Amino acid sequence: MQGQINIQPNQQVIYDTDLIRRRHPALNIARLQRLVLTGFMGAGKSTVGRMLADRLGWEFLDLDTYIEARAGLTVPEIFATHGETHFRKLESQALASALGRQNVVLALGGGAPEVLTNRLLIEQTPATATIFLDAPFSTLFDRCMLQALNAPAADPESASQPTELRPLLANPDAAEGRFRTRRPIYRRLARLAVDTSALTTEETVAGILAALKVDRAAAGS
Ligand code: S3P
Repeated sequence: MQGQINIQPNQQVIYDTDLIRRRHPALNIARLQRLVLTGFMGAGKSTVGRMLADRLGWEFLDLDTYIEARAGLTVPEIFATHGETHFRKLESQALASALGRQNVVLALGGGAPEVLTNRLLIEQTPATATIFLDAPFSTLFDRCMLQALNAPAADPESASQPTELRPLLANPDAAEGRFRTRRPIYRRLARLAVDTSALTTEETVAGILAALKVDRAAAGS
């Protein structure tokens, strides 16, 4: 039911490895200044992140949007003009800058955690917890295609292609390969993982707030 948390065993908000738990004994919003949302394209990082930030009264920052503002180009333009390697460089620089902020919910691009230096940067930034939004590849791929079809075209004369917004989805098999490589990386980096496949955005945010021990009244819900 919409607005009610009904978490099935396979959709549980789960805590990650003992190693990570030992390093950061208790997950509690009072001890945190940054929440980093991770997961593959279509996981809902921006939608969930915006609502989460709103509930916490924190700033929301989408790393792709931040990169675009810094570069003066859209992500597809950066890929088309300069290639993925250059995009990853800009992404790492933007991440380092974004992690300097406080009381921020930061939505990463799906590829950011694949870069070791990015993971180290996130892990070594104090008062920072990473949350992994998980779902099967087919669900994520379908969500991305729907989003692209519903996105307003920059030029109404040329209908936007489903893969225009996310260049790495142009080859679905290669995208699935990336998903398989990245999923264990997302899991290892995360303090908290949420299977969002059967949850609404509202339910996902409510589950995260509960795991972070956020007082419901204080969270404005
Ligand atoms: C990418 C994901 C995109 C964007 C870029 C590359 C990836 O972000 O950073 O197209 O490598 O998975 P979203 O995950 O927000 O779509």
